[in-house]
Amino acid sequence: MNLQENISLELLNTFHIAAKARYYSLIKDAHMLQLLLKHPFIQNLPKLILGGGSNILFVKDFEGWVIQMALEGIQQVEEDSNHILLRVGAGVSWHQLVVYCVNKEYAGIENLSLIPGTVGAAPIQNIGAYGVEFSEVFESLEALEISTGIIKKFKKDDCAFGYRDSIFKSSLQGQYIILYVTLRLSRQLTFHTSYGVIQEVLAAMQVKELSIQAISDAVIHIRQQKLPDPTLIGNAGSFFKNPVIEQHLANRLKNEYPNLPSYPQADGQIKLPAAWLIEQCGWKGYRHGAVGVHPHQALILVNYGGASGQAIYQLAQEIQQSVAKKFGINLVPEVNIIN
Ligand code: FAD
Ligand code: EPU
Repeated sequence: MNLQENISLELLNTFHIAAKARYYSLIKDAHMLQLLLKHPFIQNLPKLILGGGSNILFVKDFEGWVIQMALEGIQQVEEDSNHILLRVGAGVSWHQLVVYCVNKEYAGIENLSLIPGTVGAAPIQNIGAYGVEFSEVFESLEALEISTGIIKKFKKDDCAFGYRDSIFKSSLQGQYIILYVTLRLSRQLTFHTSYGVIQEVLAAMQVKELSIQAISDAVIHIRQQKLPDPTLIGNAGSFFKNPVIEQHLANRLKNEYPNLPSYPQADGQIKLPAAWLIEQCGWKGYRHGAVGVHPHQALILVNYGGASGQAIYQLAQEIQQSVAKKFGINLVPEVNIIN
């Protein structure tokens, strides 16, 4: 049976927390996964699905079965004069897929360049960056129901996508293993440059004619400037979601803090940058032992080397408490906390 015991997860999560998995399997084909799930010993174990480990915090060892998804393959399943449908294995690296699409001039995901992790995890929190969300190119996915072993197809309306949210993070959490994702890319080049800084970088790069390659290059440039490289400093990107609040509450905060940046949403609510709230509480650049808050981006908690998951979790809770006390806002973690 393809089941390893007492495996270190240190290199399998971008926080580089040295937690252990009691049992671990690397899954390269769906049939093998179906067979394993039928095994009575395995059926009783707690299960955790892992992709690239870039949005996960292990607060302690995982006393169950860690299933790391490594299904490969990018397959063109349909095309017409406007669109291309790609069916992609859950284990394919997200950025590898972006590079594939940019090279072929398939538009839609160039603004999502350099997001770490796997294609199978992209629907879970509906990844987003620089004015684009994954749900905009989503066609369907195939997922294995853990309790029955049956493979089910989910269309867009089934997934309840929202800001850093989907049905797989809420009512169906932990119930399905995503095997394949089908994306609808476009041959028509529509460029998303509304995120102001993209235009500034394109201008600095002296781009004369927009292309998806140029947008991808600009996004990569911005991200390399702003975000810590997890291979050098352990982190999982934004630790919390940006809070979305009612307009009257935002107005009240604006009266008290006139410099508070705010982003009106289509539904009339207001999104606030959690990084600003955290910075105002004095946390930016904070360091205690091996844990800290990144000096250039207050929404990113970091492991400078050898930190425990518990220490990061404790820092996250202290940050939540101080933001709640100062602004009356409860920050919700974006990172999946395993405790
Ligand atoms: P993991 O961390 O392995 O898993 C995340 C969650 O998905 C877990 O709950 C896991 O159980 C579940 N899961 C994973 N694979 C599957 C599967 N096949 N089936 C079912 N469940 C599964 N995110 C953004 O949205 N935008 C950003 O701009 C962004 N920037 C980042 C920058 C940095 C430096 C880092 C470290 C992270 C960033 N992230 C960002 C977060 C992260 O890259 C995404 O959430 C990514 O989709 C996680 O992929 P993963 O494969 O590493 O998932
Ligand atoms: N800001 C501060 N202090 C800081 C950093 C930012 O006050 O230290 C304020 C500034 O006003 C800035 C605003 O926050 O204009 C927004 O900052 P930024 O553009 O860096 O984006 P963010 O809101 O912090 C979000 C996503 C990122 C995504 C970027 C770009 C969330 C939780 N995070 O970050 O996603 O890459 O926008 O679209 O929505 C992730 O999810 O892991 C992630 C990195």
